Amino acid sequence: MPGLPALFDLSGRVAVVTGGGGALGTVVAGALAEAGASVAVVDLSETTAAKAAASLAEAIPGQDEAGATRAIGVSADLSTEEGVEGALAAIDQAFVHSFPSSE
Ligand SMILES: NC(=O)c1ccc[n+]([C@@H]2O[C@H](COP(=O)([O-])OP(=O)(O)OC[C@H]3O[C@@H](n4cnc5c(N)ncnc54)[C@H](O)[C@@H]3O)[C@@H](O)[C@H]2O)c1
Repeated sequence: MPGLPALFDLSGRVAVVTGGGGALGTVVAGALAEAGASVAVVDLSETTAAKAAASLAEAIPGQDEAGATRAIGVSADLSTEEGVEGALAAIDQAFVHSFPSSE
């Protein structure tokens, strides 16, 4: 039976943590990054999102195999459709290499 790190290996995956700059969000984002995921911290507050992403990037190896950053902060109001769409577009742009090609 594989060990826990193998069971929870999220290398090459993208995790989106909503409210990611808050008390619960920062812990969840840290755990997902530790498991190997690239993490998008989405928060209403631009400063909070940026700070949370910066401290994540300090705590984990800053780049994935493709040389791209593994932690980004995205400011969005997720209570609105535009906010959700804008956040997804920013995440797609930042981690474009992580998503399967649509071609
Ligand atoms: N902390 C706990 O122990 C606990 C326990 C049970 C339930 N909860 C619930 O879990 C949720 C998160 O808790 P928390 O302690 O991390 O709260 P928090 O206030 O520390 O974090 C919430 C984050 O969400 C962001 N946010 C708020 N509205 C947003 C929006 N429209 N779009 C994007 N981001 C938005 C805020 O800017 C903030 O950074 C809350 O609903 C809370 O009631 C928390």
